[in-house]
Amino acid sequence: MVEAFAPGKCILFGEHAVVYGHPAVALAIDQGVRVSLKKSEEWRIGGEKFDPFKHPHISHILHKIFYYNGEPLDIKIESQLFPAAGLGSSAALSNAIGAALHKMMKPNEKIDIVKLAKIGHSAEAAAQEGRASPTDTATSALGGCVVVSGEPVKGTEHIFNTELVTPEGKRSWSIYKSILPEKTDGIWLILGFTGESSPTGKMVAGVANLLSQVPSKKDEMEAINEITLKGLDALSKGNFEAVGLAMDECHKHLQNLNVSSDSLDRLVEAVRPYSLGAKMTGAGGGGCIVAISRNPQRVSEQIEIAGGIPMISKIGTKGVKII
Ligand code: MEV
Repeated sequence: MVEAFAPGKCILFGEHAVVYGHPAVALAIDQGVRVSLKKSEEWRIGGEKFDPFKHPHISHILHKIFYYNGEPLDIKIESQLFPAAGLGSSAALSNAIGAALHKMMKPNEKIDIVKLAKIGHSAEAAAQEGRASPTDTATSALGGCVVVSGEPVKGTEHIFNTELVTPEGKRSWSIYKSILPEKTDGIWLILGFTGESSPTGKMVAGVANLLSQVPSKKDEMEAINEITLKGLDALSKGNFEAVGLAMDECHKHLQNLNVSSDSLDRLVEAVRPYSLGAKMTGAGGGGCIVAISRNPQRVSEQIEIAGGIPMISKIGTKGVKII
């Protein structure tokens, strides 16, 4: 049997703006997806018969990437991530499956994390009609703090470039790593799930519509761009007070792009008195908020009182690993 684990992610700054070439900053979180593969008499997943149409990511990686034609597999998946909630659950699943298959098929070959991130990205794209940014798969593969941007970003290390042919044409991204401060000063990430899943494609299309109808909304993208760069600078210096202020500011501009929701705003308001900063994370319209705080228990209680489901993570989790 082979096993692998890949973490989920949360976007700290730059969601939606990254679709327009601006930078986004994402952190890997402690929670993720664990996959085990075992040779078996028949194809099974989660104790049931494996249906490739129900599992497009897995099917793509098995057959289009690894050209697997060995014995049938019994696939077990344990996810700690809320599904379709902006925490990169499908990216973590793709990366964990890719890593486990690599171990099974090439046990003596060191795993190439960049290649794995690209495999995960192609699986996401295949499952989402050709539209997916590499943010989730790169963060889950590399771990730590990942910056996705169309242009070089000061103070980061370039890791790889990637591109994708989408229905709207070819898109290219560069992936950078930002070194997190060694001491995170007792600061924790707290995620709060609204309980409502978030359709990324619909939210991205909504922003595109808004920008074409109200061109002045492009200023919101510029503002998010500036906040992202300031927030990243503060993060790399370990100035979490400034990171929090940038998060609060970023949430306002996401509200102005109509991607927040009443339940996201309610959770953000509920945690603010006990946090350094809080905002929605990911596509919005539902999904999760993220807060940073020295008092994660109190913030979690506030999330529960406001009707959400909390999850605590440290800052700076490692990327995908074979167990
Ligand atoms: C979704 O997690 C983040 C978005 O910026 C979409 C994307 O990056 O592809 C809304």
